[in-house]
Amino acid sequence: MQPQTESLIDTEERYQAPTYKKFPFVITHGEDVWVYTADGEKYLDLYGGHAVVATGHSHPRIVKAITEQAGRIIFYSNLVYSDTRARAARKLIEIAPSPLTKTFFVNSGTEANENAMKIARMLTQRTKIISFEGGFHGRTPASLAATGLAKYKQNVHPMLEGHTHAEFGDIDQVEALIDEETAAVLLEPIQSLGGVRMAPPEFFQALRQACDRAGAMLIYDEVQTGMGRTGEYFFAGRYGVVPDMITLAKAIASGIPMGAVLMSDAISGEIKAGDLGTTFGGGMIACAAMEATIDVIRDERLLENVRTNAEYLFSRLKAVESVEAFGGMGYIVGIRFKQNDAKLYQQLLLERKIITGLSDDPRVLRLLPPLTLRKAEIDLFADELSAVKL
Ligand SMILES: Cc1ncc(COP(=O)(O)O)c(C=O)c1O
Repeated sequence: MQPQTESLIDTEERYQAPTYKKFPFVITHGEDVWVYTADGEKYLDLYGGHAVVATGHSHPRIVKAITEQAGRIIFYSNLVYSDTRARAARKLIEIAPSPLTKTFFVNSGTEANENAMKIARMLTQRTKIISFEGGFHGRTPASLAATGLAKYKQNVHPMLEGHTHAEFGDIDQVEALIDEETAAVLLEPIQSLGGVRMAPPEFFQALRQACDRAGAMLIYDEVQTGMGRTGEYFFAGRYGVVPDMITLAKAIASGIPMGAVLMSDAISGEIKAGDLGTTFGGGMIACAAMEATIDVIRDERLLENVRTNAEYLFSRLKAVESVEAFGGMGYIVGIRFKQNDAKLYQQLLLERKIITGLSDDPRVLRLLPPLTLRKAEIDLFADELSAVKL
């Protein structure tokens, strides 16, 4: 490590409160699926900055959209109309599954979930939210209470009341919990941080029916699965099931902070001016980045890219000796190893200049690459993973 890199790492550590344990390098720039360090090294990024970098790092069209917007106006809140916001909202709704016809723009995943749960509680005048063991929804009060991973809730008191958890995939448990006090059922359709856990189609269909019977809303947290990661714009719509609301963030604006709650006209029609608000949500830079993100996904046929190359990735993983199993859909992938923790593989892959992610399951390594990841880089990853010897 060069002295300048060491000094930059020291400076960050000195002036920032601890968050994540960081990788031991300083990123200076990125291009598509590659990031470059202050030491002049190049890494293949299979983690996409926490599932954020949908269109690859610094895609020229995203850069152009942000730059042009910044030159016109950087920000004004929802107190005014904006040409950029109007176009962005229409574009997002054009790709949303019917009957989700309205968006509320926010700034992050947890804010989207807080608002979706608030809307459900407000409109139903009920208090209870059912979510799932193994789910992650964010770190603010309602999202944290809905989260089903104990690690993130330790030492946080008081936990918001009104939240119960069922086993993911167990409809009987949901049926036992759901009642006339239930405002909503909230779930990640693929539990990402929980270890890329999936549920069968019948579970989603049964959930829809259970919510309809109880008069509760169904909310999909698509903060990770949304915006193309599974090979479709949204998980919603699969198996004939559309939730009442979808929450989005991460990839939605290719790295400019943004979130959204998608809802139907019926829901939006019951919300009064002043019920919802946010200063920064729907800012022009974020909207310009989101519009360009959707354009790039469409023009570069990234949904097809994800579908085709995920199949290819899975076919290559089948042949890797150390891999016990793998799961996921599109570019949300969990790899379980026969021996040893995923952390060790992550470390050894990092030595081979490949960035991957961990999960709450110590045996599962996660890949959340840009949607632009192609066959050549998948080959590189599979070759390097096969070459890792413990
Ligand atoms: C499924 C899911 N929901 C919500 C969140 C919270 O998003 P944010 O960190 O933008 O608040 C995350 C973040 O990792 C997530 O993965």
